[in-house]
Amino acid sequence: MGLHLTVDEEKILAGDEGPAVARLLELLVTLGEVFGAERLVPVVSAHISGVSYKNLGEAGLEWLEEQADLGAKARIRATLNPAGMDMGRWREMGVPEEFAAGQERVIDAFRRMGVEPTCTCTPYLVGHVPEFGSQIAWAESSAVCFSNSVLGAKTNRESGPTTLASAVTGLAALYGYRLEENRRPGAIVEVAADLESTMEYSALGYYTGKALGTTVPYFRGLGSPSLESMKALGAACATSGGIALWHGEGVTPEAEAMKGYLGGLEVVAAGREELEEARAALTKPLKDPVIALGCPHSTLGEMAEIAGLASGRDFRGRLWVFTSRGVYSEAEKAGYVEAIEGAGGMVLRDTCMVVAPLREMGWEEVATNSFKAGHYMSNMGMSTRLGTIRELLSEARR
Ligand code: F3S
Repeated sequence: MGLHLTVDEEKILAGDEGPAVARLLELLVTLGEVFGAERLVPVVSAHISGVSYKNLGEAGLEWLEEQADLGAKARIRATLNPAGMDMGRWREMGVPEEFAAGQERVIDAFRRMGVEPTCTCTPYLVGHVPEFGSQIAWAESSAVCFSNSVLGAKTNRESGPTTLASAVTGLAALYGYRLEENRRPGAIVEVAADLESTMEYSALGYYTGKALGTTVPYFRGLGSPSLESMKALGAACATSGGIALWHGEGVTPEAEAMKGYLGGLEVVAAGREELEEARAALTKPLKDPVIALGCPHSTLGEMAEIAGLASGRDFRGRLWVFTSRGVYSEAEKAGYVEAIEGAGGMVLRDTCMVVAPLREMGWEEVATNSFKAGHYMSNMGMSTRLGTIRELLSEARR
């Protein structure tokens, strides 16, 4: 069988639209062949990862500059994941000069290719919101989980190069979660605890990813999760496992249609004990941690909560809050940024605690409300502690 290309796609592959488009299409074709796709499909939106100079290094940067020099240009809306630093405040962050120079070149290469330098893992909070049922090409596992599950758009867990290829060609290989049959649940998760905070939804996601790997979960008993809780749940289950799509009974848009496929599925119980175990796994007693909030990037509601709890206190540089430029502007107008920074905290855009070079910046102990952040920072050799925003800010008051 193999992958069938249209006449137009064959022409692009032969170089009719230039070498950059041809090369990037070839990448998608190869990927499609590996995964047994029968054809390519048009996509309407791309979200590109692989932006931090920390992860890209010189080799990754040179590859991006080469694509830009060859004339690669996005033909659909394309946004960017976080970079390794706040593009305006990197000196205040303590980011080394050499790193900053590399990071600026990365952003410049993407700009030349017509990609919006949003530098956030929550593009859906800053106006990049694909429609239900649309085919998209998104990277960044938390954003993939949100777009598949909460928005009902269709994407696989793409990589930096494949999302750039989709942005430039407007195409993706048709396999995986792009096909209805692969969006069906493979296990039921019975939630037997009242989830009271975003951190607890994050704990549930972390437990679920560990228990199910890449299987699509169908949650029962999720209650009425807020937008913040849904972003936290997806981010965590995409971290401890490889989950790219979850359904929540009475919560997500495809859940009702999935009810017919639940018969005979394995049932996994998630109660208070499992949530506490997940929390204990990433929690150590810490002496003087930095409190890092905003993974995935903070919403305006989270900024309001942090500002309310931080206001009038003194965190003396021990509180870092990460968000997108769009949410930052709103938070600035509402006075939240001033409240947090007045308390000695820093509100940073464009970056986060995982993609910034924190070890080089001297971080050793971190407290957070995100299991995704806790997981990665622990893997980087830092000591971590998990708690709700309220707990972390209350305990750290001086
Ligand atoms: Fe976003 Fe960074 Fe967390 S990219 S999901 S804030 S690890």
